[in-house]
Amino acid sequence: MKTAITELFGIQHPIIQGGMHYVGFAELAAAVSNAGGLGIITGLTQKTPELLAKEIARCRDMTDKPFGVNLTFLPSFTAPPYPEYIAAIKEGGVRIVETAGRSPEQYMPVLKTAGIKVIHKCTSVRHSLKAEKIGCDAVSVDGFECGGHPGEDDIPNMILLPRAADELKVPFVASGGMADARSLVAALAMGAAGMNMGTRFIATKEAPVHPNVKKALVEATELDTRLVMRALRNTERVLKNKGVDQLLEIEREKANTLKIQDIQEQVAGVYPKVMVVGDMDAGAWSCGMVVGLISDIPTVKELIDRIMAGAEQIIRQRLTGFLDGDEAQKPVRAVA
Ligand SMILES: Cc1cc2nc3c(=O)[nH]c(=O)nc-3n(C[C@H](O)[C@H](O)[C@H](O)COP(=O)(O)O)c2cc1C
Repeated sequence: MKTAITELFGIQHPIIQGGMHYVGFAELAAAVSNAGGLGIITGLTQKTPELLAKEIARCRDMTDKPFGVNLTFLPSFTAPPYPEYIAAIKEGGVRIVETAGRSPEQYMPVLKTAGIKVIHKCTSVRHSLKAEKIGCDAVSVDGFECGGHPGEDDIPNMILLPRAADELKVPFVASGGMADARSLVAALAMGAAGMNMGTRFIATKEAPVHPNVKKALVEATELDTRLVMRALRNTERVLKNKGVDQLLEIEREKANTLKIQDIQEQVAGVYPKVMVVGDMDAGAWSCGMVVGLISDIPTVKELIDRIMAGAEQIIRQRLTGFLDGDEAQKPVRAVA
């Protein structure tokens, strides 16, 4: 399948693995890129720019296909040394960067001068238009369903994607709630040129996380995510667990007086506890509603191959079948 996204990034399939803290290591990024998608290393999971340089080199040893690095600009007590992270990306020969959080505007000149293509993740049409204006090559349009930070507008992808299609000139991928062939075809129908998946890629054999995490994803349903930190205007969609229950209780008590310090225990340093140790009650970690569509742990290649085969089947049989009048009664079960 060829779309504006496969052509822009030089990849075989229009499927991107979004940056994920403590998940987006070289193993997963290389597996996604080797399977024909675009794998992305999460820059800030590497504690220093030197460690990121090593991670990029490790990924290059595992794949000769294009891969990218995620740079997340979120509020933090001490800002990471972004220019040095960008230098590591540039010197490591990476030519694709996924930015997220605050606008990457101040870093665009250095990224563009280095010949790096930038895809910025946005949760609204206005932010997508801003990304286009400052020179981003593509946008990842992240609906309210998404795992991680859905922003504060709460617009799901059934509305957000066609709105983005009506306004944007640069290509965009659908992000949030994407899991299978049906997601991909629906995203394409709504004007996207591909899809970005986070949560779904964690439940794969290659994802370098504790088996408890994959088990939790298979067991959870679409009813099991919660929104936290709304009062701080830093909303995050996470998987419900004991730590998250405590967090929500504190949020109820403090209401609009909530400060980040009140929930420090439930949000800070949680990722290594969950992803490395497998402590599933440690606190808030990002997870999308799409968890309700996850019921197995395939290899990345199996996942991507069945998405692409299923998408072809839906387009060629189900959709054209409607036009020909011979598909009217058939349901489309999980082909992926
Ligand atoms: C465990 C986890 C960690 C994430 N960490 C980051 C991150 O560090 N930076 C970022 O830009 N997005 C992060 N995301 C968001 C994903 O890149 C992606 O946009 C999102 O998961 C898409 O929604 P989905 O989970 O419904 O597929 C994270 C998502 C998950 C599930």
